Amino acid sequence: MTPGNGAKPPSDRTRTTMSITTDRISCAREQLALAGQEHVLHFVDALNDADCTRLLSQIESIDWSEIGSLIESHVNNRAGWQLPDCIDPAPWYPCVPAAELQDKYTKARALGEQLLRGGKVAAFTVAGGQGTRLGWDAPKGTFAATPITGTTLFGCLAGYITKAQARFGCTVPWYIMTSPANDADTRAFFEDHGYFGLGSDNIMLFPQAMMPAIDATTAKVLLTSRDGLALSPNGHGGALKALHTSGATADMRARGVEQISYTQVDNPLVKVVDPLFIGLHALDEAQMSSKMVSKAHPTEKLGNFCLVDDKMAVIEYSDLPDELAQQRTADGELRFSAGSIAIHVIRHDFVEQLNDATRGFALPYHRADKKVDYLDIATGDIIEPDEPNAVKLEMFVFDALPLCESSIVCETDRIEEFAPIKNADAADPADCVDSPLTSRRLQIERAARWLESAGVRVPRNGDGNVDPVIEIRPTTAIEPDDLRQIELPQHVERASETLL
Ligand code: UTP
Repeated sequence: MTPGNGAKPPSDRTRTTMSITTDRISCAREQLALAGQEHVLHFVDALNDADCTRLLSQIESIDWSEIGSLIESHVNNRAGWQLPDCIDPAPWYPCVPAAELQDKYTKARALGEQLLRGGKVAAFTVAGGQGTRLGWDAPKGTFAATPITGTTLFGCLAGYITKAQARFGCTVPWYIMTSPANDADTRAFFEDHGYFGLGSDNIMLFPQAMMPAIDATTAKVLLTSRDGLALSPNGHGGALKALHTSGATADMRARGVEQISYTQVDNPLVKVVDPLFIGLHALDEAQMSSKMVSKAHPTEKLGNFCLVDDKMAVIEYSDLPDELAQQRTADGELRFSAGSIAIHVIRHDFVEQLNDATRGFALPYHRADKKVDYLDIATGDIIEPDEPNAVKLEMFVFDALPLCESSIVCETDRIEEFAPIKNADAADPADCVDSPLTSRRLQIERAARWLESAGVRVPRNGDGNVDPVIEIRPTTAIEPDDLRQIELPQHVERASETLL
């Protein structure tokens, strides 16, 4: 049939494209109906091809039957967290072993090194978070973190891997989880930095899945535009699924990787692959293990390592009753003192087991009430709420711990390994918490300690704080002993900058 307005009839190719789009729309409508979310297609007839395709791709990336049941459990019914009846503090391996543990630590370190030398260990960085609190308008890993060279967070991790590879004469393949929101920028950053000399073949970037934000009152998924859902990453727990769906675990299997060293992107001091930790975990045949720091005070905002019905678990600081948080042992130490810093070693086959299709992926979702800007379908206005209006759903990586047959916790020294960058600097330095400023101070403190342990005099102020600015690049040293390989000054000048 020729259209009456004299326009050309659509070509076969256009017709095919149109019918594919029509099929995709009706398929999307069916999926959305499963969760009572047909409003998501409200504007579909008014969209041009590109916008329609964008919207359809977002809809198709989501499991709507899962969303339907999550809305029921977490939005309509607020599935609450129940305090277990039986909670005990988890045991841990201390930083400094008692005499009876010294042999075990020596063996563990040797085993960890052997696993590294044999190419059995992969580094895994989760970098899919939104970095909202830091307010950095680019992937968090591209943030300049170090005090003198301003090396980025990714640069610090890459430097560590470079040094570890040189020391152990091995390749440590590096897997990095991004999100659809920062994947392209992260890839461009690695490309621009020549993959930090590690070889693009040994670095695999892959995005995690996204979840839609849901209106807390109407239980409807929010739109941010006529062709876009309000989406955010599905939490660091999504890593355990994305490792599988992205093909990363298959790639690891092909390389012979047995252990995955999991760290976050925002800690420039992290030991990306720690032979002692990996070795203790392997020696004890653990499936997923964790590092802890001793909490600075009872209610410090760190998850607590606990045994719940004899299974390892992390209880969030906000969920641990104050009465338990304040308990002390006969020695006056906090009873629940092991704080989680999100460093794990995970056995490759444990990740595969979690993704076994016959069992289904078992990590639970957690509800977070957040302010989310959205498009009001009735008026077409963008609404910027003053109060939390939406439910976001996230999985947490530590929820895999209770699923382990065996799991250990190792203590690490805060100053040696924990300088997180979470928040933007406050106007008053005294108010900064886990910010670029506090992180730089901790990096300087660690560098000073390492120099002092090598006999270098470092001037400190009356309050004990290091006076000069010192940066030790990971390519120079990832352990204090590495400093013995280089020529060191006898002392560092006050008010100077020292870069090693
Ligand atoms: P956080 O939750 O501490 O911070 O993530 P964030 O998401 O980067 O920033 P905020 O909360 O919006 O301010 C801890 C680590 O987990 C990763 C982050 O990239 C960071 O390395 N993460 C978090 C993911 O990879 N995916 C997520 O969905 C959430």
